Amino acid sequence: MRILLCGGAGFIGTHTIVELDKAGHDVVVVDNLVNSNEEALRRVTKIIGKEIPFYNVDCRDRKGMTRVFDENKFDAVIHFAGLKAVGESVAKPLEYYENNMNATFVLMDVMRQHGCKNIIFSSSATVYGDPAIIPITEECPKGHCTNPYGQTKSMLEEVLIDVQKADNEWNVVLLRYFNPIGAHKSGLIGENPNGIPNNLMPYITQTAIGMREELGVFGNDYDTPDGTGVRDYIHVCDLAAGHVAALSAIERKCGLAIYNLGTGHGYSVLDVVKAFEDANGLKVPYAIKPRRPGDIATCYCNPAKAKAELGWEAQYGIEDMCRDSWNFQKNNPRGYEG
Ligand SMILES: NC(=O)c1ccc[n+]([C@@H]2O[C@H](COP(=O)([O-])OP(=O)(O)OC[C@H]3O[C@@H](n4cnc5c(N)ncnc54)[C@H](O)[C@@H]3O)[C@@H](O)[C@H]2O)c1
Repeated sequence: MRILLCGGAGFIGTHTIVELDKAGHDVVVVDNLVNSNEEALRRVTKIIGKEIPFYNVDCRDRKGMTRVFDENKFDAVIHFAGLKAVGESVAKPLEYYENNMNATFVLMDVMRQHGCKNIIFSSSATVYGDPAIIPITEECPKGHCTNPYGQTKSMLEEVLIDVQKADNEWNVVLLRYFNPIGAHKSGLIGENPNGIPNNLMPYITQTAIGMREELGVFGNDYDTPDGTGVRDYIHVCDLAAGHVAALSAIERKCGLAIYNLGTGHGYSVLDVVKAFEDANGLKVPYAIKPRRPGDIATCYCNPAKAKAELGWEAQYGIEDMCRDSWNFQKNNPRGYEG
């Protein structure tokens, strides 16, 4: 298939290009580089041995997106494009709502004008809010999102569901990601956050390399085995492979399909610190800090539906994730700029 990756220069997008290429698909990337770097695409070219057609276009730019669709015929779109920093979204709600919503509106409108009605959307476990059931199945009711970023994911899911309901030529796959970490084993591509990382693993790797004095652990009085928050970490290469598997749902004309992409295992913050130290023979100094508003105690999924319907399940364990995250950080101390 020929696949358009919107936001394909980012962390998950670049790893997905590698998996799509491995499976024999052709890829075109659209990205406005607001949170990425063309160097990431050059690195992917090194891995797959192929140039990647790239448009530096904002998904909100109707003219630009129309040109992309006029010049290419796509079988499906994978829509990663969006702003994703939870804390920043609280400080800049208008920017987050405007970017994430409008990018999707324009993209879907241009898609239907060009007769491409197959989309895989990057959603998030955040749509479950404080989950009613653990492990979380897709039947678990959506919850209240405590930040604008999460709201955009939840609202966009509803938009996509309504579009598919109104026109059943659409095939919509909502992938609810749990917590992607790790990096491609080459050490060429990985997570390259701007500024202070929001997420645990880049914070750990930046502390390990000496960029930060210590890791802040936000809360140790949650109702979990060691008091720190428990999450479902998934290797980004497994997550990327989940997108290839999701194309099979589109091929069988799924209409609407929703899948959790996680491992089904919950690890606490301190479990991950220990796994990272053990996997890499390093020490990560940390300090307990107050809870962050909006954080929940426990979040991990039941990934059985994706296994049953897509034949997909995670292959990598926490040690692999810790080793590969560190491998990227140590090879790229200053990310793609370094
Ligand atoms: N990384 C996670 O922990 C996580 C978890 C759940 C869901 N997601 C979602 O998955 C998707 C990919 O995440 P990621 O970690 O690769 O993030 P990322 O920031 O690395 O990638 C997103 C890409 O979208 C691009 N982009 C943003 N707005 C755009 C616009 N208007 N037009 C064109 N390009 C635009 C950015 O430049 C970036 O390259 C995002 O939608 C994110 O919200 C990520």
